[in-house]
Amino acid sequence: MHHFRYVQGRLQAENVDLESLAQRHGTPLYVYSKATVEDHFKRLDGAMNRLDHLVCYAVKANSNLAVLNTIANLGGGFDIVSGGELYRVLKAGGKAANCTFAGVGKTRAEIEYALKEGIYCFNAESEAEVRYINQVAGELGKKAPIALRVNPNVDAKTHAKITTGKSENKFGIDFESVLGAYEMIAKECPNLEIKGVQMHIGSQLTSVDPFLEAVQKVVPLVQEVKARFGLKFFSIGGGIGIVYRQSLDSGDTSWWQEQGEAAPLSVKAYADAVVPHLEQLGLRILLEPGRFMVGNAGVMLTRVLYEKRGSAKVFKIVDAGMNDLIRPTLYEGWHQIVPTTKPATDVTEKADVVGPICETGDYLAQDRDLAPVKAGDLLAVLSAGAYGFSMASNYNTRPLAAEVMVDGSKAHLVRERQTLDDILRGEHVLPDDKETA
Ligand SMILES: Cc1ncc(COP(=O)(O)O)c(C=O)c1O
Repeated sequence: MHHFRYVQGRLQAENVDLESLAQRHGTPLYVYSKATVEDHFKRLDGAMNRLDHLVCYAVKANSNLAVLNTIANLGGGFDIVSGGELYRVLKAGGKAANCTFAGVGKTRAEIEYALKEGIYCFNAESEAEVRYINQVAGELGKKAPIALRVNPNVDAKTHAKITTGKSENKFGIDFESVLGAYEMIAKECPNLEIKGVQMHIGSQLTSVDPFLEAVQKVVPLVQEVKARFGLKFFSIGGGIGIVYRQSLDSGDTSWWQEQGEAAPLSVKAYADAVVPHLEQLGLRILLEPGRFMVGNAGVMLTRVLYEKRGSAKVFKIVDAGMNDLIRPTLYEGWHQIVPTTKPATDVTEKADVVGPICETGDYLAQDRDLAPVKAGDLLAVLSAGAYGFSMASNYNTRPLAAEVMVDGSKAHLVRERQTLDDILRGEHVLPDDKETA
């Protein structure tokens, strides 16, 4: 479900025309639909309402302050992976007490910051990290809430680069060692308070089976940890997949069926599968969705600069590159690309949509059946709300794109386009030899 549609042949976000936004703010431009974020939050939150639960949005997916503020206003919590993300959440009106802190490499400064702000829990990923949090908490005279991330060794059946719950992945503590690690905390870590168990097996899961397998495997462990050490919560992580191919006429997600796509995971199917297993725990259940919440709530607008007809391929050269949206390059992420003016015919032409960056891997689409587009046309790269802007970089000294959030008929610039001076701020040449002599 999303709120992007062709209305009288022009693509809109909610009630706002995308071409007019591109003219006002330039391209590349990220555009988010507030209503879509809200719908997604409410759907997942509602599907879990039989459980005492908290939806902790995974900030990494899209950390724009306006997105975080939208989720904070709905009562959401946050899953953070850095001190920087905690800073953003607090600036956006979120509460530290609703934040879980994930990640394998928390630094001393980050641990101290999170302790001082009073986060809900650290989700620790190794015994060494557990001991370090215990040490830092002791030095600050505090007790740190702690959960261990269990690696259940379950194949999420998603792309290798977003699989996180297999033994060969760097994440979490091996299933077989987790109980021993809780014992170690109870015996040797007086500055820690055991609070939860966490898992997250991967991202963009399109079937409920791996979730179910992981939940069924981990629930008995959670029961044992609860009985022996006392627990407040179990976090089942994020990972709910989204549809990357869809219709822009209805905004629904039925189009994938006609196209024979792998079935996306509906929130209902997800909840129906996991809730019965979680109910028996008598614990607060945390969810950490990222992509599900924002993926289909954003598009990236990019203008066609040139067309190049090579001997082997047709290239549409656009003004957005892998620095703006790295998913296609990084892990073969597939994004639907459409002109913002609805094509008059169904005629398509095979082409690569490539950016201006000096890398062969700089493409947004390859061998794509594209509507006929020419220089100057505006394209919308769909489903770019998650892991889009948040993974952008300044590679090739390209300023970060601007971001707009649409709310009904209003469009708000929620991040200004970066300037070249912004990029160079803090950078220096060596002092003149004569001055230092
Ligand atoms: C610990 C943790 N939780 C939640 C998420 C969010 O995953 P997704 O965006 O697939 O829901 C991630 C993503 O990497 C993660 O590492």
